[in-house]
Amino acid sequence: MERRRLGKTDMEASVLGFGGSEIGYQGVSGRTVMRLLDGALDAGLNVIDTAECYENSEELIGKAVSGRRRDFHLFTKCGHGKSYGHADWRPAALLASIERSLRRLRTDTVDLVQLHSCSLEHLKKGDVIAALERARERGWTRYVGYSGDGEAARYDIECGRFDTLQTSVSIADQEALELSLPLAKARGMGVIAKRPIANVAWTHRTKPAELYYQDYWTRLRALDYPFLRDPDAAVATALRFTLSVPGVHTAIVGTTKPGRWKENAAMLAAGPLDREVINGIRGRWREVAKPSWVGQI
Ligand SMILES: NC(=O)c1ccc[n+]([C@@H]2O[C@H](COP(=O)([O-])OP(=O)(O)OC[C@H]3O[C@@H](n4cnc5c(N)ncnc54)[C@H](OP(=O)(O)O)[C@@H]3O)[C@@H](O)[C@H]2O)c1
Repeated sequence: MERRRLGKTDMEASVLGFGGSEIGYQGVSGRTVMRLLDGALDAGLNVIDTAECYENSEELIGKAVSGRRRDFHLFTKCGHGKSYGHADWRPAALLASIERSLRRLRTDTVDLVQLHSCSLEHLKKGDVIAALERARERGWTRYVGYSGDGEAARYDIECGRFDTLQTSVSIADQEALELSLPLAKARGMGVIAKRPIANVAWTHRTKPAELYYQDYWTRLRALDYPFLRDPDAAVATALRFTLSVPGVHTAIVGTTKPGRWKENAAMLAAGPLDREVINGIRGRWREVAKPSWVGQI
């Protein structure tokens, strides 16, 4: 498994990471998470991303793999202590959330705490960033980052106070390729691609009921990339596209299934995607994307 240095941090990140939202939201059992993560760590995974509000994702990860904490870089987020719909950006609430994450993850320190998609206005006020810096001073995290999109993602880079950016990058979400990633690369930021395979939204025959998948489904119908018609090539091409974007260091694919990480890792063995295919995807996006197709949280 290829590893890339995560910006100016000291972390060498496996290009295929693990996104922890689905295990929480989809009620995966502790036994399954243990099999999933143990197997992936044995096969070369070293990036695990979760958040304060992905139901019991932090607890599941803590129970499953805190015994092998040195084998991976652990990222979490803060800002929605109660649940995703209930943001609380007061510094004391952020610090309480981070402290709770450490307990749930059964660790003294995480490698990265990220502000979980707060608005540009909150970022500009600055006290949310100061709260993360306080957590770093207390030794609760080694690095601080922002997870989000659009102008706020750009501000994360411009303000110079963050180590990383986690942002949506995929065949269905290309705003960041021009808005934030070139600057992130120039400034040496670590970049974590979230939603890197666009939630495989193209696999739904009709518009999915779940709101989270709907935008990507609609976009992909319009983009109508030819490779999506080949089930054997679709995920591999989507994943290799994301990892070919300059400045991206790791892609945190979410999964509920043991074995999935290895399956996806095998897709990367083919190496970088051909320039022609990349140009085709970019060209189609430029031709079809509407101004409203902004980075999706
Ligand atoms: N604002 C934020 O900070 C934010 C927002 C969104 C996401 N995130 C982070 O980014 C991570 C990834 O995002 P995501 O999970 O929404 O999107 P994603 O990684 O693009 O898609 C995950 C979905 O793809 C499926 N999948 C994975 N490999 C597959 C394969 N080879 N074939 C078919 N299906 C496959 C998984 O289903 P199976 O269970 O069947 O494998 C899962 O439903 C999250 O887990 C989270 O850590 C952060």
